[in-house]
Amino acid sequence: MNRREFLNGAAALAGTAAIGPSMAAAAAQPSSLRQRAEAKGLLFGCAVKSTALRNDPDYVRAILEDADILVHEYELKRKNVEPKEGQYTFEGADAVMDFAGSHGLKVRGHTLCWYAANPDWLANALQGPMAERERLLVSYIQTVMDRYRGKMQSWDVVNEAVEPDQWNWNGMRRDNVWWQAFGEDYIGLAFRTAKEHGDGAPLYLCDYGVESDVRWNERRRTAILNLIERLRARDVPIDGFAIQGHLKPFQASFEPEVFARFMRELEGFGLQTMVSELDVADIDGPDDPGKRDAEVAAVTKSFLDTALSFRSMTGVLCWGISDRYSWMSDIAPYKRADGTRSRVLPYDDGYRRKPMWQAIADALDGAPARGS
Ligand code: G3I
Repeated sequence: MNRREFLNGAAALAGTAAIGPSMAAAAAQPSSLRQRAEAKGLLFGCAVKSTALRNDPDYVRAILEDADILVHEYELKRKNVEPKEGQYTFEGADAVMDFAGSHGLKVRGHTLCWYAANPDWLANALQGPMAERERLLVSYIQTVMDRYRGKMQSWDVVNEAVEPDQWNWNGMRRDNVWWQAFGEDYIGLAFRTAKEHGDGAPLYLCDYGVESDVRWNERRRTAILNLIERLRARDVPIDGFAIQGHLKPFQASFEPEVFARFMRELEGFGLQTMVSELDVADIDGPDDPGKRDAEVAAVTKSFLDTALSFRSMTGVLCWGISDRYSWMSDIAPYKRADGTRSRVLPYDDGYRRKPMWQAIADALDGAPARGS
């Protein structure tokens, strides 16, 4: 079923119980998040899990309703793709690509080089001579990019390269097999390899923790901007910066002007930008779900109003579409003490639209059209 068939079907089913009232209402509504984004020359989408695509029709409906671009939540990470050295398994990654292809959706590649989600054998393999270390990075990037040539809207080439908490002269992340193998040069090698084997899709650096005025965010912004300056000075082919957007408003408030200053600095490098992993942690928020949803929506609107006011911004992806599958419900720093699921995404775990959905819709409607 392609999206047109789905939406025609949903409109026809609007009066039946075949899909939830909110989905039927959604199908009849003038515009989804995808359509509102398209109207402004933007992309809207989300991270997806291949298992949920296979097993959860309501998940598929929500994605086909609102998303125009997808990203693998975990299937395209080296731990899954190369579990044994030189033995590649693309089943999970291909499942997402096939789903996107059959519905005319775009996909962004996440991620080619990260300190996390690496196979267990890699750290030891990176102890060899430099030529062998380079081969381990280059061959992986080449293999993955060759497989998806012409199919990715953009790539997160290097993910989460800074970690000022281990403050050193430049705030780079050193608990990182790539840093330990190459020092900072791994970043230039990764981007140059991606440029050589890519198909022109923009190449992004990606990181988090840049939206608040707390000290550790300021140190992250400084480390990121100084890193980009060094990369630019070495003619490293970086096209964009992806702001992950894992907001934690009840621990570190979103500060529009602080974030806008960072965006201006990124645009000063001539970079395109993207919000690539938006969710809003509700840990430490009000116990009442309605109040929590309202505050999450208000932060979402403020953040996206600021981000989308910048013409370099190409799109917004949430890190999931429904609370049913959010990583935040399972991870210690975000898991709610009352045992309820985190309420951090546009749909709740029953696929009912939340105020956050409307906040995204309003921010897209209020955004200046790209190119205007
Ligand atoms: O699929 C296997 C399952 O077969 C196995 O039984 C189970 C227990 O080992 O693991 C399952 O894989 C897990 C996978 O998520 C799917 O649920 C991995 O262990 C787990 O590490 C993986 O976590 C993902 C994490 O990145 C690491 O890849 C999270 O879902 C994903 O939300 C998270 O996403 C990151 C972004 O890539 C970068 N920015 C931060 C963001 C949140 O941490």
